Amino acid sequence: MRVLILCILILSVLVNFINGHAVLVSPTPFSTNPSKTQQCGGGAKQTVAQITWCPRSDKSNRATWKIVVGDGAGAVTFKLATNGGTSAADFTTTLSSKMVGGGGDPKAVGTYYMDVVVPTGTTCNGTCVLQAYTQSSGWYSCSTIKLDTSACDSTPKETSLVEFTVKTDSNVKFCDQVLNKVVLLPAGTILQEYDLKTQGVFKNNMANPLVIGTNTSECGNLYEKVLCDVSFPLAPGSDGKPVYQVTYQQCQNFIKTCDVVSHVELYPCGVYDSENEGSKLIVVPTLLLISILSLVLMF
Ligand SMILES: *[C@@H]1O[C@H](CO)[C@@H](O)[C@H](O)[C@H]1NC(C)=O
Ligand SMILES: *[C@@H]1O[C@H](CO)[C@@H](O)[C@H](O)[C@H]1NC(C)=O
Repeated sequence: MRVLILCILILSVLVNFINGHAVLVSPTPFSTNPSKTQQCGGGAKQTVAQITWCPRSDKSNRATWKIVVGDGAGAVTFKLATNGGTSAADFTTTLSSKMVGGGGDPKAVGTYYMDVVVPTGTTCNGTCVLQAYTQSSGWYSCSTIKLDTSACDSTPKETSLVEFTVKTDSNVKFCDQVLNKVVLLPAGTILQEYDLKTQGVFKNNMANPLVIGTNTSECGNLYEKVLCDVSFPLAPGSDGKPVYQVTYQQCQNFIKTCDVVSHVELYPCGVYDSENEGSKLIVVPTLLLISILSLVLMF
């Protein structure tokens, strides 16, 4: 009994460790996982702006910050790298910000909306990198954004995912299961580069016992299929329902064969149809793929 309680305790600490903390939700960050990796919380810099913000001192832009576990509490600071860089020295502009509806700094688990002001006349070298971080608890997130006065008079929209047909000449070699299929990815994605990045994540995670407990070649085959399915989500079918290339059983086999214990939340097999009933499907969060790509950077 004691052992059981101990196990539950250890597990709950682990779960907190994985799910915990604080992260930028909007604009969409490089990495949707909370991370202390400086200066951007890991993940790869987006090649296209996720949103256009208004550069005017008398107007504000909306950012959303989420505290997932209490250790992510603290005032959030926003900075801008107008040269598009991501190193500490690049974040030369500190932006003033305040919580929507007043109130003090984010202290507890929850979602916080903030108005962020970009001073009049600020320009980007093409795109800027926006950084949000809490000095007190040390969580970092960045997003690629654009500045334009056209955004001052309308509610800006985030860039949405676009359809790509994966042709043989797009050089998608690692995730070749999506050849000749239509996938949904952020605008501007270079398929070959993205495929290589996915392969890099695969290699790193296979060598990381915190993610893949038993990295046999059988595990590798199963993991590759699941990782590619999550990384290159297929466009929905004509009925609007998501289409997967992995079944519930295959996903469960992967979890078991690879001995995925500590990061099992990242591979929600439940999204896959267990009884071939379309109605049971849940849409995979579109940015889950980025979470997984950046997972490796959490350590
Ligand atoms: C602006 O970006 C280009 C590449 O896009 C780079 O070569 C150049 O050095 C940048 N300029 C500044 C001032 O950072
Ligand atoms: C399997 O994991 C070990 C470390 O646990 C690592 O040394 C080895 O390279 C990994 N094998 C593969 C195929 O990644």
